[in-house]
Amino acid sequence: MESVKYIWMDGELIAWEDATVHVLSHALHYGTGVFEGIRAYDTEDGPAVFRLTEHMQRLVRGAAAYQLPLPYGADELTKAAREVVTANELGACYIRPIVFLGTGSMGLNPAGAEPRVAVAAWRWGAYLGDEGLQKGIRVGVSSWRRIHQSMFIPDAKGTGGYINSVLARLEANANGFDEALLLNMDGYIAEGSGENLFLVRDGIVRTPPTQAGALNGITSQSVIELLRDDGVTIEETNLTRSDVYYADEAFFTGTAAEVTPIREVDRRTIGTGSPGPITKRAQELFMSAATGKLDAYRHWLELV
Ligand SMILES: Cc1ncc(COP(=O)(O)O)c(C=O)c1O
Repeated sequence: MESVKYIWMDGELIAWEDATVHVLSHALHYGTGVFEGIRAYDTEDGPAVFRLTEHMQRLVRGAAAYQLPLPYGADELTKAAREVVTANELGACYIRPIVFLGTGSMGLNPAGAEPRVAVAAWRWGAYLGDEGLQKGIRVGVSSWRRIHQSMFIPDAKGTGGYINSVLARLEANANGFDEALLLNMDGYIAEGSGENLFLVRDGIVRTPPTQAGALNGITSQSVIELLRDDGVTIEETNLTRSDVYYADEAFFTGTAAEVTPIREVDRRTIGTGSPGPITKRAQELFMSAATGKLDAYRHWLELV
């Protein structure tokens, strides 16, 4: 990854290389943290962060759900994000806030562990590759199931839970795929290792509900709104593995992945094997909204 000069940590901007943590930090051992992934885009009015407040609100809610003390509110965190983008003279970039427990306790009861907060930003291009964005990616259904909602809080981006995503992603890549698709414990589709899934069949778009174990993605909610406003029918419903194989089109959404077409799942070609019309429309609408080209969605952008 490409480094920058500064990271915001515990209330101040410090040098990138000084933003380190102790090896006995609670979160390092037990995954006691929550994080966010946010993107800023270049617009004609300068860099703007896509749905910044909503991301920070999700972080604050996630920290509360996991009972992680957070000494800052969403307003202070949005200010920190702006500061870190400005100080590093970044335009389009990825922003990573994280709240985690530091030192002070080594037992599973985290009482006494010091809460730490950081907001970093750096340039990060297409998460699943430029070619993937253009031509679509190859996906494999994982042998790892998405952690069940009775075992963690799927709607919060808890650091510990991501070991499940890492296992799935490692397996997918080892099998020659670009990304993994995880089923939940009931065998329905949950989501990608870091993306929400959308399928298109006979002109209707379907995506798994959050009850299926998918994160309530800010990108997916934006894409649903954009497509609905464009006259497309979208259903949030349980989907099976065969729904994927029979889809005319499939795509992933996520802050990192944006709208990434899927051209193959488990070595079966999806549709024609290239991004279909609704996928392309979703990509176009999302990128136009994110870069300030659609007046109706300007309220999603927060200028740096
Ligand atoms: C597991 C998982 N699902 C879905 C998403 C997409 O969510 P969002 O669009 O809010 O980035 C992410 C990324 O944040 C994720 O990590």
